[in-house]
Amino acid sequence: MSTAVLILAAGHGSRMKSDRPKVLHHIGSVPMLWHAMQRAQMIKADKTIVVVGHGGEAVEKSAKTFDKNTDIIWQKQQKGTGHAVQQAADILKDFAGDVIILYGDTPFIRPQTLRAMQNARAAGNSVVVLGFEAKDPAKYGRLMMEGDQLDAIIEAKDCTEAQLDITFCNSGVIAAPAKTLFSLLNDMRNDNASGEFYLTDIVAIARAQGLSCTAISCEQAETQGINSRHDLATAEAAFQQSAQSAALDNGVTLTAPQSVHFAFDTDIAPDVTIEPNVFFGPGVLIQSGTTIHAFSHLEGCHIGPDCQIGPYARLRPGTTLKTAAKVGNFVEIKAADIKEGAKVNHLTYVGDAAIGAGTNIGAGTIFCNYDGANKYHIEVGNRVFIGSNSALVAPLTIKDDAFVATGSVITDNVPDAALAIARTRQINKPGLGKRLMEKAKAIKAAKTSK
Ligand code: UD1
Ligand code: MG
Repeated sequence: MSTAVLILAAGHGSRMKSDRPKVLHHIGSVPMLWHAMQRAQMIKADKTIVVVGHGGEAVEKSAKTFDKNTDIIWQKQQKGTGHAVQQAADILKDFAGDVIILYGDTPFIRPQTLRAMQNARAAGNSVVVLGFEAKDPAKYGRLMMEGDQLDAIIEAKDCTEAQLDITFCNSGVIAAPAKTLFSLLNDMRNDNASGEFYLTDIVAIARAQGLSCTAISCEQAETQGINSRHDLATAEAAFQQSAQSAALDNGVTLTAPQSVHFAFDTDIAPDVTIEPNVFFGPGVLIQSGTTIHAFSHLEGCHIGPDCQIGPYARLRPGTTLKTAAKVGNFVEIKAADIKEGAKVNHLTYVGDAAIGAGTNIGAGTIFCNYDGANKYHIEVGNRVFIGSNSALVAPLTIKDDAFVATGSVITDNVPDAALAIARTRQINKPGLGKRLMEKAKAIKAAKTSK
């Protein structure tokens, strides 16, 4: 059965008090919308459609960044969830499979839950709704169950006193065949307490036509929507906790799990050790046997096996480390390829560069990759030694087995096995050091005797 995932993301989210569309606020360092889109990938959806409205251009751009094949549908005026889904009728008119409706502000639905819904569809139910037992059902739509059959969803505003006592509530996530869904939506009306077109009405309409509807249930935490900055903070904490726990389950050592900050796609192999207070931005992959020491910040980088990083290292996007490379304290690396066993151990900036196998970059070396307008590349060969406090001025090539003397400013290419020295020569003046010091002391003594 083919599946289209339709993600509603047109609402304003006014309680966020933000100029930014709600679904573009971040969880795990990426827009919350991407979490819903990732669910579509996880269940191998054939099509992902995002319904945009408020801040639609920005939402469209973000959705396409995550997956350029995403279809974008505009809902210019927000007339309710049913109206939002209807906007996709045209794009899905020839789609023979199921539609699963998700929400851009509901990032935690598990793929297993969506598969359970698909199974309930395969078992012959025309409409499958995801419900949950609400601790405080206040504002949620109530699910009117009759045994296994779902007879209707009634919005809180439209409930009788007795119906408000029901605690089995609508998460909003619904699965139905595309054809059935849009045909049911044609009979939807907006004569309700909100004057909106409710997606939830399709259940009663389906039942009136003798179609079978059911609800399956999940934990309330999965259905957690985000409406305010408080919700956002709570959701971030929930995301971090689940990422920390997943890393431990996968065989990663976290010496202080709660202090490690994950991104939504952080990918860490078993037998990696992460010390306290490490931050992962998006796009980090770490292979087995590597240790990330405390207070390191990594983003957009691929770390090979058996590497040592930090403490206090910053790895920026485009960085790769091959087997057993070492990056030490107060080192920043951007868009650079550090080959097998190379070491950049102390107080160094490396940008737009390649560093060969077994090469040692001395303390305080700066790769000068920027002329104020353009970036240039530096190529350092294998088994090179760069002396401490050197400045390497790009563009530049330093060949295999070269040796750069401490404190050099290297502006010309260095051939194989050469020694490059680029600093003024040292002069020693006999006795002058001591004489200068005596003179300085005499000046001080003259001042204090006054
Ligand atoms: C909806 C459900 C309710 C359920 C609750 C769960 C309906 C009628 N009600 O209510 O049963 O318990 O979710 O959270 O569906 N949206 C659009 N376009 C619109 C309207 C909404 O894209 O015209 C999007 C919003 O951005 C939001 C989502 O749909 O992300 C839900 O809309 P909202 O108005 O918040 O629905 P609820 O009142 O919460
Ligand atoms: Mg609402």
